[in-house]
Amino acid sequence: MDTLIRFMEEKDIPVVVYNDRRILGQSLGDETLKNELNENPFAYYFIMENLDNSAFLGHVSVWVDSPMAQILNIYVVPEMQTHGLGSVLMDFVLEFLKAHEVSTLTLEVRQTNLSAQSFYKKYGFVKVAIRKQYYENGEDADLMLKNL
Ligand SMILES: CC(C)(COP(=O)(O)OP(=O)(O)OC[C@H]1O[C@@H](n2cnc3c(N)ncnc32)[C@H](O)[C@@H]1OP(=O)(O)O)[C@@H](O)C(=O)NCCC(=O)NCCS
Repeated sequence: MDTLIRFMEEKDIPVVVYNDRRILGQSLGDETLKNELNENPFAYYFIMENLDNSAFLGHVSVWVDSPMAQILNIYVVPEMQTHGLGSVLMDFVLEFLKAHEVSTLTLEVRQTNLSAQSFYKKYGFVKVAIRKQYYENGEDADLMLKNL
C-alpha cells in the first residue's frame, strides 16, 4: 500500500482523539491537541494516510528540543498492524529528527505492551530507567532511549 505522511492539522483532531482512545486508551483531547498544534513550538504531530483514499492509518507525535527529542505517541490502526506500517512511521520520524539535529530520542512504554517493546527494541531503543506508576492505572513505564 502507498502511504502519505503529513503534518497533522486541526481538522484531524477528531480522528486522532478517536484513535488515541481506542488504541491507547487515553487521549490529550480536543483542546490540548489544538493547543499543541497551534501554540507549542516544540511539538510536531504527523498523520499517516492511505495515498489512494486518504484513509487514516496511523499517527506519530514528537517533542523536539534539539539535541533531545521524545516520542509522545506512535500507533497504527489495529486493522493494519503487523504489516510494516509502524516501521514506515518510525523510519519517517527518525529521518525527520536527524534533519533537526536530534541525537538522543526517548519514549515511555508500558511494561505490559510486549508488541511495542519488541518494536522499539528492533529499532535499537534500550531501557534506561523505570518510571514508577507512570500510567493512570498505576502501571510502571519503561523509559527507553536511542542515540541517533
Ligand atoms: C507498536 C506498533 C506501532 C508497531 O506497528 P506495526 O505496523 O504493527 O509494526 P511493523 O509491522 O512495522 O513491525 C515492526 C516490528 O515490530 C515488532 N512487532 C510489531 N508487532 C508485533 C507484535 N504483535 N508482537 C511482537 N512484535 C511485534 C516486530 O519486531 C516487528 O518486526 P518483524 O516484522 O521483523 O518481526 C503497533 O503495533 C501499534 O500501533 N500498537 C498499538 C499502539 C502502541 O502500543 N503504541 C506504542 C505506545 S508506547
